[in-house]
Amino acid sequence: MAPSRTKDKPDTRADFVVVANRLPVDKETLADGTVRWKQSPGGLVTALEPVLRSQTGAWVGWSGVPDAAEHPEVDGIKLFAVSLSTQEIADYYEGFSNATLWPLYHDVIVKPEYNRSWWNSYVAINRRFAEAASEAAAEGAVVWIQDYQLQLVPKMLRMLRPDLKIGFFLHIPFPPVELFMQMPWRTEIIEGLLGADLIGFHLPGGAQNFLYLARRLAGQATSKGQVGVRAKFGVVQVGFRTVRVGAFPISIDSGELDNRAKSREIRKRATDMRAELGNPKKILLGVDRLDYTKGIDVRLNALSELLEEGRVNPDEITMIQLATPSRERVDSYIKMRGDIEQLVGNINGNFGRVGHPVVQYLHHGVPRDELVSFYVAADVMLVTPLRDGMNLVAKEYVACRSDLGGALVLSEFTGAAAELRQAFQANPYDTDGVKEAILAALEQDPEEGKRRMRALRRQVLTHDVQRWAKSFLGALGADTDTMPGGNRSLDVV
Ligand code: ADP
Ligand code: F6P
Repeated sequence: MAPSRTKDKPDTRADFVVVANRLPVDKETLADGTVRWKQSPGGLVTALEPVLRSQTGAWVGWSGVPDAAEHPEVDGIKLFAVSLSTQEIADYYEGFSNATLWPLYHDVIVKPEYNRSWWNSYVAINRRFAEAASEAAAEGAVVWIQDYQLQLVPKMLRMLRPDLKIGFFLHIPFPPVELFMQMPWRTEIIEGLLGADLIGFHLPGGAQNFLYLARRLAGQATSKGQVGVRAKFGVVQVGFRTVRVGAFPISIDSGELDNRAKSREIRKRATDMRAELGNPKKILLGVDRLDYTKGIDVRLNALSELLEEGRVNPDEITMIQLATPSRERVDSYIKMRGDIEQLVGNINGNFGRVGHPVVQYLHHGVPRDELVSFYVAADVMLVTPLRDGMNLVAKEYVACRSDLGGALVLSEFTGAAAELRQAFQANPYDTDGVKEAILAALEQDPEEGKRRMRALRRQVLTHDVQRWAKSFLGALGADTDTMPGGNRSLDVV
């Protein structure tokens, strides 16, 4: 993605608008004052960027730094920047989005904080996004709102622009009812989402949780003389409006990744990487944002025990952990980074040799081609989240293995586990189970490995992100004729 220039504001309104907390590019100011735009972190951007490139449209979002109002142009996508002040970033993004909603929606792995001033900021910033979306959208446009940071936008936008078709997709798990009920502003959130015409989740379970809550919380409004709400079989009736609710498991641009991974340069780089690591018998790989939901500690603890018990020989393996910095000012992330780095230090202190650390840990992102080379080089991919809406890394690894080599260790608590049945699956809370899965992956018979990888690839290559987008937008009633990807009907719950 190469931003060409920045403008005061894109000049025309669009028929298709994506609204997400982040723009697909982050603004970076270098030491000499020059400005660079680089791809923003996370699976949402990985997934949606190819969709928007194949459709003409606009993207409304924040540029990742305070007080930035420029509108960069990227590969023909019109970008509408929403500016946030330092205080708003602290309250809306680090606070309510990432210290309240994120832990609440991820099984309360850390304790969510309920802070009224963060909530007030969340309401105000959601309104700002709704106003920006309203400005970006042409008459009758399709507007696709993304993720937990913007759950109030569907209702706010509908009030501003009743002519629009509004879709909402949640990229993270939607929590069990018992947990969601902790939220002091639970009714406002459910009503906010119900402003959409179609609400999508990764899994049927999330959609079911939502339907139950819609009935229980929004339905209560009738006693106060407000609109009646009825919910069943994937449909919520809000007065005269019908809101559809369904499961749409997201994916990646599998074909593009498959091709890229087959290139001679990538193959050569993967071979060179092995040599640079001293040609270990097995390379294990982890690729994550540095987030406590990802279970980086789970795989490090399991590996440490396997080394201690002499079931894995430290001279024969290297583990690479790539960890992109994430939400670095949020307390739980600061603590977790310290814990992970200590675990890496302990393993290397106990089992490494000079010139051969067992775990090589990088706390930064790597360029896309380098990442693909890591996937091609790795014998065992470790994906061990405690909870994850989907996990695109697991699908990326599979898409890169046209050689049918490699093995995937996958947490049962990822959305991807529902599709990637032939992975070595484990419960991340069961250390012995994770150890067994890692050992089985390290020791798999090559023919059995090929059978597994072939089946995994069939799933990932036939269910790509274009199919996901087409399925969601088709269900929303958008024109999908010009979009690549097969037709797929809505998995209504
Ligand atoms: P999340 O959306 O929670 O970050 P996903 O696994 O769904 O998790 O998506 C993460 C995306 O970020 C993937 O496309 C992955 O390739 C990319 N990514 C993660 N870590 C790195 C890294 N260290 N360097 C480059 N890309 C990374
Ligand atoms: O998919 C979860 C998600 O939070 C996305 O909404 C987001 O783009 C990505 O992870 C990265 O997180 P952040 O924008 O907080 O860096």
